[in-house]
Amino acid sequence: MFQIKNTTKNLVVEKRETFSSGLAIFFATLGSAVGLGNIWKFPTLVGMNGGGGFVFVYLICILLLGIPTMISEFYIGRKTKSNAVGAFKKLNANSFGIIGYLGVIASLLIMFFYCVVAGWVYSYVFKSIRGDFKNLANLPIGEATNFVSNIYSNTINGSIEPMIWQVIVLLVVGTILIAGVKNGIEKTTKLLMPLLISLILIICIRSLTLEGASKGLNFLFSIDLSKLTPSVILSALGLSFFKLSVGMGTMITYGSYFTEDNDMIKTSMRVAFSDTLVSIIIGMAIFPVVFTFNLEPGAGPGLLFNTIPLVFSKIPFGNILLIAFFVFTSFAATMSMLSMVEVPVTFLKEEYKIDRKKSVLIVLTIIFIIGLLTSHPSSIFGDIKLFGKSFFDLYDYISSNLVLPIGGLLIAIYVGYKSKKDDIINELSNKSELNNTKAINLYLVILKYLTPLLLIIVFLNSIGII
Ligand code: TRP
Repeated sequence: MFQIKNTTKNLVVEKRETFSSGLAIFFATLGSAVGLGNIWKFPTLVGMNGGGGFVFVYLICILLLGIPTMISEFYIGRKTKSNAVGAFKKLNANSFGIIGYLGVIASLLIMFFYCVVAGWVYSYVFKSIRGDFKNLANLPIGEATNFVSNIYSNTINGSIEPMIWQVIVLLVVGTILIAGVKNGIEKTTKLLMPLLISLILIICIRSLTLEGASKGLNFLFSIDLSKLTPSVILSALGLSFFKLSVGMGTMITYGSYFTEDNDMIKTSMRVAFSDTLVSIIIGMAIFPVVFTFNLEPGAGPGLLFNTIPLVFSKIPFGNILLIAFFVFTSFAATMSMLSMVEVPVTFLKEEYKIDRKKSVLIVLTIIFIIGLLTSHPSSIFGDIKLFGKSFFDLYDYISSNLVLPIGGLLIAIYVGYKSKKDDIINELSNKSELNNTKAINLYLVILKYLTPLLLIIVFLNSIGII
């Protein structure tokens, strides 16, 4: 076994290396979890699904589905020291290898829309540096909201502009993957991540002193059961998988690089807790702004882009902090994309023996062409609808609400019913080094009975069978 310092997500190397320490494991896993999912998707979905009730169901899903799935993926990964496809081969459970293939599909589907939203973030970096938001502080409330919403709709509706940003995003991702400067990027991100979180805390504090703060908090935290429809519950479930990057075997690969002395139950709980905290803080930063400026909480994907410039216009040095916010967010998004694109790239490399550079080019070209359908929510291809949804919504829906939970269900069935209990206890207790029998038993009960049952009930419920 090889020890490498400071290398966190060097996941496709041939020699089995391990992370250098428990802290490195924590940060690498958190680095995959934190991304546009927290900053953009969480507030968007909370707003569209009526607030506190959605947050409540989301938290339950993290506890009963997300964390158990993450522990299971870590277990499979560290035991087999392989990626998702190879892991099930080693375990003589070839039929579960489908999880690896589902992962390839899920990562492509997610990339189709993720790179578009990342493009919007990149363009906001450019626009905030150019000074587009400079005069916002002097405008009265009504005009200020019109001003930001015009900038947002110009960003997403231009016939060429969104496409250009999407290409820039893919070029950045491709260059990093081909040039192998991933390590440098990861080190930078580790530095920027705490800065991003501090900045979110600053906006959170400013937001909490706005006039609409109590209404915002009320929206975020008060539970209105009447709003909990089957589709709201399904999207909370989907978000919990998407957020923790589980259900497609990514965490199997991460687990395969864990050290033998890592307490994997604790690691998964710490990652889930920290990731959720970031989402809640961003929610507490955004919803007070929504109610102070009379915006629509259910505005959809534009919520982040319409509220963030407004709150920074109320903070000293807001223009500079706004640039910093979008720069840090673009780094977090880029990091998450690297971990996603890695999945189909490794697949092509290992299954079809295509060299790395070619694999990257093939995958990014596919993402670009199919992703084009999403890059214009309301222009060229935006009008085309399938099953009543735009391509943007469709890719998002299928990946989060179908593919990831199905992957999670298969993982829960494999570990809960096909694995030997002794193997699981042995691995999760680090060969009885850890004194965590109670935690393991609790995990196994949840994984065997609650996780699959809840997944099946929510599925059947959402297609109207029960
Ligand atoms: N969790 C990331 C986010 O919130 C997205 C992500 C990265 C992901 N890698 C993944 C989602 C693998 C599912 C699977 O932005």
